[in-house]
Amino acid sequence: MLQVRNLLVFFENALAINDVSLEVSQGELVAVLGSNSAGKTTLMNTVSGLLLDIQKKEQRRGGERITIMGRVEYEGREIIQQKPSLRVKQGIVLCQERHPVFRDSDVLENLRIAGYLYTRREVKEGIEKVFAIFPVLRRLRKRRAGLLSGGEQQMLAAGIALMARPRLLLMDEPLLGLSPLLQAELAASIKEICRQGITTLVTEQFARPIMPIIDRGYVMENGRLVFSGNREELMDNPEVKSAYLGV
Ligand SMILES: Nc1ncnc2c1ncn2[C@@H]1O[C@H](COP(=O)(O)OP(=O)(O)O)[C@@H](O)[C@H]1O
Ligand SMILES: [Mg+2]
Repeated sequence: MLQVRNLLVFFENALAINDVSLEVSQGELVAVLGSNSAGKTTLMNTVSGLLLDIQKKEQRRGGERITIMGRVEYEGREIIQQKPSLRVKQGIVLCQERHPVFRDSDVLENLRIAGYLYTRREVKEGIEKVFAIFPVLRRLRKRRAGLLSGGEQQMLAAGIALMARPRLLLMDEPLLGLSPLLQAELAASIKEICRQGITTLVTEQFARPIMPIIDRGYVMENGRLVFSGNREELMDNPEVKSAYLGV
């Protein structure tokens, strides 16, 4: 479904993504594990197209030069120059890190805004689906997003992404900053999302909470992929163990 080939991303002269090739097949739940500043967000922004917007903004204000090279194929078509809005329409939806939500709007409004591309009936159905995966949000539907806990905001951010009807869902560090209990709960919800047919690529800094739900994973260090394998291979790898599982 997604094929990234020899991707390079430079910020001015710093190499953030260094010759990365990876793929995600239909129906898979794949993780990219990497410590802080490994390049996870840059990778997600490149696949979603957000990096093109960032690149344009930088050009306009005469800021740093961002260079993107390589191939990003979605369902066999090259999309590396496609606008993010077009990618969303084709089903590539990014749930950004640190759960950005409209803080002054309530939960329902946040979900409705996210469904703006769809008819009222589709939005209603979408909201029901989100509530089925995240029952907490139904209870909090009239609460202002800014008043939600970190975990609740993260669930809302995932709900917002689901409202855009993803076929390929990109989740950038969804478990960041949550308690172990909430991490386990959210991980189970992500598994459920994938089980419902949404192919998912997720990044994490710590492997432990995400390991139980993934099919495969890649390990990223300083912009490079240094290891890839299925869950068992990741668990058995001594470096993965020491760096990401803390054993
Ligand atoms: N807008 C930017 N300008 C310059 N350097 C950046 C920018 N965004 C990210 N970087 C650099 O690219 C590298 C990868 O960052 P990032 O993709 O955010 O990593 P991660 O999400 O894994 O923490 C880091 O060295 C970071 O400092
Ligand atoms: Mg990041």
